[in-house]
Amino acid sequence: MDGGVGCGQPDGACRWEARADLVVVGTGVAGLTAALRARELGMNVLVVTKDAVDGGNTRWAQGGVAVVLGDVPGDSVDRHVADTLAAGGGLCDTDATAAIIGDGPAAVGRLRDRGARFDPGADGGPARTREGGHTAFRVVHAGGDATGVEVERALLAASRDGRVPMLEHHVAVDTLRTPAGDVAGLLVLDGSGVPGVLTAPAVLLATGGLGQLYQATTNPAVATADGVAIALRSGAPVADLEFVQFHPTVLYTGEGARGRCPLVTEAVRGEGAVLVDSTGERVTAGVHPLGDLAPRDVVSAAITRRLASLGEDHVFLDATHLDAPTFQRRFPTVLAACLAVGVDPSRTPIPVSPAAHFSCGGVVTTVDGRTAVPGLYAAGEVARTGLHGANRLASNSLLEGLVVGTRAAEAVAADLALGVLAEPRLAACPPVPVVPVADRDTLQRVMSRYAGIGRDAEGLAVVGSVLDVSAVDRPLATRELVEDAALTLAARALIAAAASRTESRGCHVRDDFPGVDPEWARSLTVRLTPSGQPMLDRPAVLTRGAA
Ligand code: SIN
Repeated sequence: MDGGVGCGQPDGACRWEARADLVVVGTGVAGLTAALRARELGMNVLVVTKDAVDGGNTRWAQGGVAVVLGDVPGDSVDRHVADTLAAGGGLCDTDATAAIIGDGPAAVGRLRDRGARFDPGADGGPARTREGGHTAFRVVHAGGDATGVEVERALLAASRDGRVPMLEHHVAVDTLRTPAGDVAGLLVLDGSGVPGVLTAPAVLLATGGLGQLYQATTNPAVATADGVAIALRSGAPVADLEFVQFHPTVLYTGEGARGRCPLVTEAVRGEGAVLVDSTGERVTAGVHPLGDLAPRDVVSAAITRRLASLGEDHVFLDATHLDAPTFQRRFPTVLAACLAVGVDPSRTPIPVSPAAHFSCGGVVTTVDGRTAVPGLYAAGEVARTGLHGANRLASNSLLEGLVVGTRAAEAVAADLALGVLAEPRLAACPPVPVVPVADRDTLQRVMSRYAGIGRDAEGLAVVGSVLDVSAVDRPLATRELVEDAALTLAARALIAAAASRTESRGCHVRDDFPGVDPEWARSLTVRLTPSGQPMLDRPAVLTRGAA
């Protein structure tokens, strides 16, 4: 490898080195948006992904982008902010929420300038739908229910002018750090497990979520909490990890579903579908003033309670008021998934049950993507900006990726100009870390059983013990080990926070503490001890504007 970086690898193991101003990890909406903005600002940017460039979570987003463009009578940015705060259960940061949502219209405008096409409405402007927790029709969508595919297509097309190099099939293992602890590059493994270093004064984590902590999830196989683990090991705190959002309507494909399960977008309810149980009773009757379009945490918890009382494992989404041509035009992805399991949704209610969908928490960042560690930035689902609080408002995540991706690139440019980032030559190339790795199947089983909707102290302790007993120290020498180690660390951090939060709020539902406790209107942050144990920060972060 090139000189300059002290290499902790055994002789010759660190085979290669590449340099950039900014290394972006991940090719979802936040990562690609940041990379494109960084190029516009004249930076040398390198994007690295452990999979193919289109292997991330963005393409699976169905519903759309929540944004106020000024053409819906009665809607306003303030109203969108109010809906976000209401859904967030008292834990959103009001300033961050106002900043991100206020930037939404410009961010969507830039995306359209980059070629994204949203479905037109009757007046020729973008069509709108509604999802849970929204008090207005404000969600723009593409390809009916294929918004993520269109967002990804547009961003990848804009990146393919050769000015945004992309390193596929390289997994990020750890950051390079200077003696002062600043981040100045990344240790990666190629597809054969050969280590290499990417040196840069700035690293942006845009690695997506952690749905693979659970047996059934809407997330693809890449959603293994990699960024959370890298940030923790780099010294950055994470927060709100106990708030894992379960999507209420995931297609039920039979007992024991595993891995990525097909989503049935909330927009189907936005177009009038209702949830019923096996007796034909409405599931959300009397639960919330917004009924079937209550915030997602409320609907998922209502389904879970109904299933427990009936001793069943799925309810039904009745969308039979939509005829087949409407389904084909408006929800082609949902239609195809239903038909694949023998359900014609225009004739038969769709069997659905909740599954892990979105991490409301993550690496603590400002709205500009800055973490507590100089040189380390995060954007998208991996980051906790304070927008989502205890329960994300539907379709706010693509919006957040667009806004914070842009702002993070601008923050890196500003920090470079100010000279506050480390000189990469000062960074040491770390040895491949040796850290606890639990068996993934065991981890997913206990997380699903004890750390989903409906937790208690005893169950959370079981998860902790199982992880303690099953985890074995392993060198992170392959992508699979990197992922399993990240899941292990993220599960431990999540369990620590969930066990401490002795109340129910948003997506965190404790059977032994069923009520909201005003004392807990604050976020919990977790850091790593020097010996690598996740530890809660005390005092917890107070949330500005918390209810
Ligand atoms: C959906 O379409 O229901 C999911 C959208 C989201 O998670 O925001």
